[in-house]
Amino acid sequence: HMAMLRFLGHSSFYIEGEGLKGLIDPFLEGNPSAAAGPDEFSGINAIFLTHGHGDHMGSTVEIAKKNDAVVYTCNEMAGYLSSKGIKTEGMHIGGRASFPFGRVKLTPAWHGCPIVEGKEVRYGGVACGFVIEVEGRKIYHSGDTGLTVEMSLLEDENIDVALLPIGGYYTMDVEDAARAVKMIKPRVAIPMHYNTFPRIEADPVKFAELVGEMFTEVKILAPGEEYKF
Ligand code: NI
Ligand code: MN
Repeated sequence: HMAMLRFLGHSSFYIEGEGLKGLIDPFLEGNPSAAAGPDEFSGINAIFLTHGHGDHMGSTVEIAKKNDAVVYTCNEMAGYLSSKGIKTEGMHIGGRASFPFGRVKLTPAWHGCPIVEGKEVRYGGVACGFVIEVEGRKIYHSGDTGLTVEMSLLEDENIDVALLPIGGYYTMDVEDAARAVKMIKPRVAIPMHYNTFPRIEADPVKFAELVGEMFTEVKILAPGEEYKF
């Protein structure tokens, strides 16, 4: 058995393994790099939501309702989504729990997390990342974040695949993301959150060069591309 990740553009991924058909940050509408629309998925049982910004929240509400999926997110965001009739797991930073497909842990992310509804902006807890376990593999999706010293704690997690932003402006750039890789030491790193908009233009090849070949292989996925491991 293998785990499968499909890059859907920006920070959005489809993740599949035994017991899991999941989406991470399903920004599939209004996303110029989206490799799929929100209606192209069925049987989704999990959505991992790192924070409330529109380019991550995306079609979370619509897909969760249509698929009866559970949204894994921080407690405050989960409270908001529950009020919309959505099933949630409102965990929090550093917390880990077991689910039928595997364990999930929330990791710190240095970023904002508003709840935006029309013109109203409310407190949405904190932004997070995830360590998701499926098929005996460990996937780290950092969410939107700057470089944090806490990332060094992930070395002991033995991460198989790390999904890291490289676009700068709102998150780590290629240089800081390469420093993150050196702290985390994942088997594979996949860059995300770049070239969707002019402000986050970045060169993933430069990222791969900075990472070098010491511990980690960089896999650059085009939107729509899959990686099995
Ligand atoms: Ni953001
Ligand atoms: Mn973002």
